[in-house]
Formats: sequence, structure tokens, C-alpha cells
Amino acid sequence: MTCSISEAVTAAAKRFHAAGVENPATDAWRLAGEAYGRIHGLQQLVPHERIDPDTARLLGDWFDQRERRRPVSQIVGRRLFRNLEFFVTSDVLDPRPESEVLVEAGVNRCPERILDLGTGSGCLLLSLLAELPGAEGVGIDSSEAALQVAQENSKRIGLCGRARFHRSDWYSAISGQFDLIVSNPPYLTESEFNRSPEELRWEPQQALTVGGDGLSPYRTIAAGANRHLASGGCLLLEIGVGRLDQVSRIVTQFALCVEEVHFDLDRRPRAVSCMVRGL
Ligand SMILES: C[S@@+](CC[C@H](N)C(=O)[O-])C[C@H]1O[C@@H](n2cnc3c(N)ncnc32)[C@H](O)[C@@H]1O
Repeated sequence: MTCSISEAVTAAAKRFHAAGVENPATDAWRLAGEAYGRIHGLQQLVPHERIDPDTARLLGDWFDQRERRRPVSQIVGRRLFRNLEFFVTSDVLDPRPESEVLVEAGVNRCPERILDLGTGSGCLLLSLLAELPGAEGVGIDSSEAALQVAQENSKRIGLCGRARFHRSDWYSAISGQFDLIVSNPPYLTESEFNRSPEELRWEPQQALTVGGDGLSPYRTIAAGANRHLASGGCLLLEIGVGRLDQVSRIVTQFALCVEEVHFDLDRRPRAVSCMVRGL
């Protein structure tokens, strides 16, 4: 690749477009920026500059990966979430911007003890703890590999003293009570998963779907909430687009009620705060 940055990016964007990438030019520029940052510590690109051999090698590899529809955050190994940088691998869900609504809602409740069910990269628990200096929390996941990523993130962000991570099948290894239980469970239906964009194939299937109607994690999480919520505590759940009624019905079956609905930037209901009924 002995050409200028902008020529390389234009050629890559064409390949990405042909491969079905949604934002080909944006991704090509982002990868070029990340490669220059990685190799030269540079924040700013000079588009007409010729690419040096080290950057060309790295960028060539990254462009190939993106053409195969690997998500950009996995390729570069990081993702900004709620203004914190998270280390991301193919063992965890790439933290989604819409999940930031859970952090906003959780922070507003000022919890002291937090449980994060299905913690993945740890993005929810660690963002909450970063904004709640008096709080501590536990993140669980059924995936040992995901837990290692969460642990690494807690080290990098400097929250090891207040965040613990361990393996559990939802509540099975959990004791005690919490002011906030937060979860972004795998909620795609089997058919949504089968129709999903190529990028999702690079993420762990167990982070995206448990198959069927996609609702069984909500049943398990709602069923155990009463036992693990402290008095006045809140269960905060992310929901898929169009799932508000179904999830509301499920929590009601387990003596909870939806106290508040939270919306994403497109004004779609994307999370619910649930309380124990009658309190
Ligand atoms: C949608 S991802 C959420 C990850 C992260 N909390 C986030 O918001 O980006 C769901 C997570 O639940 C975990 N998971 C799936 N089944 C589980 C189970 N039975 N018990 C605990 N965690 C589970 C997956 O490994 C995955 O990390």
C-alpha cells in the first residue's frame, strides 16, 4: 500500500461498500485514524501523506478484517461507552450506545450495592461505579472468557477495589441483596438472530440470543428479583425494540411492576425500572 492515506481509505471504502458494510467511508477513516494512533501516537491524520510501511501493514490487515464484516471495535480492541474506554474482544458483546440509558437510569437511583447480571465487558457495572463513588458491585456472567475481559476493564478503569466479577448462571451463585439489579440480557428472538447483520456473527451467540422468543432470561431474572432486591430496590432491564408489553407482562407475573420506562435517542422504549409490587 504505497499510496496516500486518502487513496487507501477511498479504496477500502469501496471494498467495504461492496461487502455490505453500512457506513463504509466512516469505518475506513476510523480504522486509518486508529492505525496512525497505534503506530505513531498521532491524533490527527494528514490525508495526502504517504502511508509508511508499518502503518500500511497494520491497516491492510484491519481493512481485510472489516471487509469480512468484523466490527470496528473488535478490530481495534476498544469502544467508548459513557465516556470510558472499554477493552473489547470477540468474547463479549460490543457495548451498544443504547445501553447507556441503563447507566443514566441507574445513577439517578444512587444505589450503594449493585448486581449486574450478564456483565459481558463490565460496561454497565463499571460505568455505574465510576459515576457513583460510594457504591460497590458484583458482575456475573456464564462466560469465563467474558469475565476475564470485565476484570481487565475494571483494572484499566481503576475500579478493582469496588467491583467483583464471578461466574454464575444468573442468580445461581449469588447471595445477599442489592439496591440495584441491572441487566442487559440476550434478547434477540431466534428469527431476529438468524436475520441479523454479518457483524453479529463475530460476537458470542450467548450474548445475543438464547433462542425461541428471546424472553426466557427475563423470566429467570424477574423470578429471582424479589429474593435479591433490598427494600426499595430496583430491577433495571434493557429491552429489545417493540418488547415493552411482553417484558412488562413477565415482570408482573413475578410480583414486580414497571415504575418507569426509559427511552433511547430515537424515543423508543429501551429499558424499564421495576419495583417490588406493594412497596
Ligand atoms: C447482551 S450481553 C450484555 C453484556 C453487557 N452487560 C452489555 O450491556 O454490553 C448478555 C450477557 O449475558 C451473558 N449470559 C448469557 N446467558 C447467561 C446466563 N445463563 N447466566 C449469566 N449470564 C449469561 C452473556 O454471556 C453476555 O455476556
